[in-house]
Amino acid sequence: MNRRKFIEQTCLACMATTAGISLFGIGACNTTQVLKTSSTNGNVLIDKASFLAEKEAKLIRVADLEHDILVLKEGDSFSAIYLQCTHQNNPVNYTGSGIVCNAHGSQFGLNGEVKTGPASIPLKKIPISHQNNQLSLTIK
Ligand code: FES
Repeated sequence: MNRRKFIEQTCLACMATTAGISLFGIGACNTTQVLKTSSTNGNVLIDKASFLAEKEAKLIRVADLEHDILVLKEGDSFSAIYLQCTHQNNPVNYTGSGIVCNAHGSQFGLNGEVKTGPASIPLKKIPISHQNNQLSLTIK
């Protein structure tokens, strides 16, 4: 399943869920903010000020990456996870309390750990560091 088809199907599922029909058995569609950006020399810079809440999640959509990156803030700590399933490389979705793959049902915790298979390998963590008022994600 390519990214475009997945997004189309996911949007269809969200519309159906809103209408009271559940296609995937997932109870909620989240409204996590998406930041679109690009990388330079394998790094993605994000303005730290874009994270306003004490606990917050954002999806980072990098122009030359196939899948989004989930960045989570909790207090002064940030973490980043690449949203590609380790089972068969399909996109995975942040639900607010975890990460799920709609292709075959794998579930992951917010640290990328496997909760339910068929995936057996944790999601890839993206190294993240602070540079002045920016976060730097190392994607290559
Ligand atoms: S590709 Fe994600 S569970 Fe199979």
